[in-house]
Amino acid sequence: MTGTLAASSLPLPLLRRGKVREVYEVDDGRLLLVASDRVSAFDVVMREAVPSKGAVLTQLSSFWFPRFEGLVAHHCLTADAGTIVTAVPALAPYHSQLAGRAMLCRRTTPVAFECVVRGYLAGSAWAEYRKTGTLAGEPMPKGLVESSRLDAPLFSPATKAETGHDENVPFSRVEQDLGTELANRLRDISLSIYGAGRDYAESRGIILADTKFEFGIDGDGTLRLIDEVLTPDSSRFWPADGYAPGRAQPSFDKQPLRDYLAGVREAGNWNGEAPPPALPDEVVDATSRRYREAYRRITGRELEIR
Ligand SMILES: Nc1ncnc2c1ncn2[C@@H]1O[C@H](COP(=O)(O)OP(=O)(O)OP(=O)(O)O)[C@@H](O)[C@H]1O
Ligand SMILES: [Mg+2]
Repeated sequence: MTGTLAASSLPLPLLRRGKVREVYEVDDGRLLLVASDRVSAFDVVMREAVPSKGAVLTQLSSFWFPRFEGLVAHHCLTADAGTIVTAVPALAPYHSQLAGRAMLCRRTTPVAFECVVRGYLAGSAWAEYRKTGTLAGEPMPKGLVESSRLDAPLFSPATKAETGHDENVPFSRVEQDLGTELANRLRDISLSIYGAGRDYAESRGIILADTKFEFGIDGDGTLRLIDEVLTPDSSRFWPADGYAPGRAQPSFDKQPLRDYLAGVREAGNWNGEAPPPALPDEVVDATSRRYREAYRRITGRELEIR
């Protein structure tokens, strides 16, 4: 077991620090993605780090990528710290920062859309539907309620916003920008991966309500699935027992954190923006247990951090 990490610091050029992950350049062809233990809720990053969370994200992605190889190529070279250090010897002294949480990847040029697939009506899609009966301006079936299961999962692309919220856009916008052929491929592959992931997760008691995929094109022109895949941070995971449409569903992973923050807010002690309130140890521990439970349920194994 290695320590909790709020932010990695490695001797490689840092390309980007996201809410949760750091992206480092290894060379022209490779990147190192490091998932810290930072956690965000309501778009605000907490001060406390959640033990094991980064490893859960990285090891879950690493679990899924090979399962989808029949559907699409991916960017993952390895998520094993020993193998990473062998490939990039300058990282040898940093093994403990890498363990479980780092993924060595093929570098690509990312496609400029987030490929969201929705199998249930939640989040920004529910908010729009409730107001206008549409999603990204397109009409939707009548009579849906919050968290309704959609008969056919929907490809629901979004633009990548540098700051603020991603914007849902109609499929025609993807066609315009990328051409019909690539747009159709992104849609078909996204729906196939989601379908496979949803069926699998359902068999393990987890509803994969929606998720976001990212794709990139490598130096040979090959389309690859990149970033993280079917993790709690890129998806809505709901516990299947107790699912009931007509209301918001609890989050499999973040509910202890959300409940605590909602309580602080209702008590008038937080306005919902940064800086966040301090989290009690019990809330951090409960959140950590939920992430590990998500990993265990989905993969059928305990998380091992090496
Ligand atoms: N193989 C790859 N080639 C090129 N870029 C990649 C690859 N894999 C992932 N990326 C990029 O790495 C970045 C990861 O940073 P991102 O800002 O999403 O981090 P994050 O911690 O998930 O933050 P946020 O919560 O803001 O999404 C994304 O911009 C993604 O497009
Ligand atoms: Mg991200």
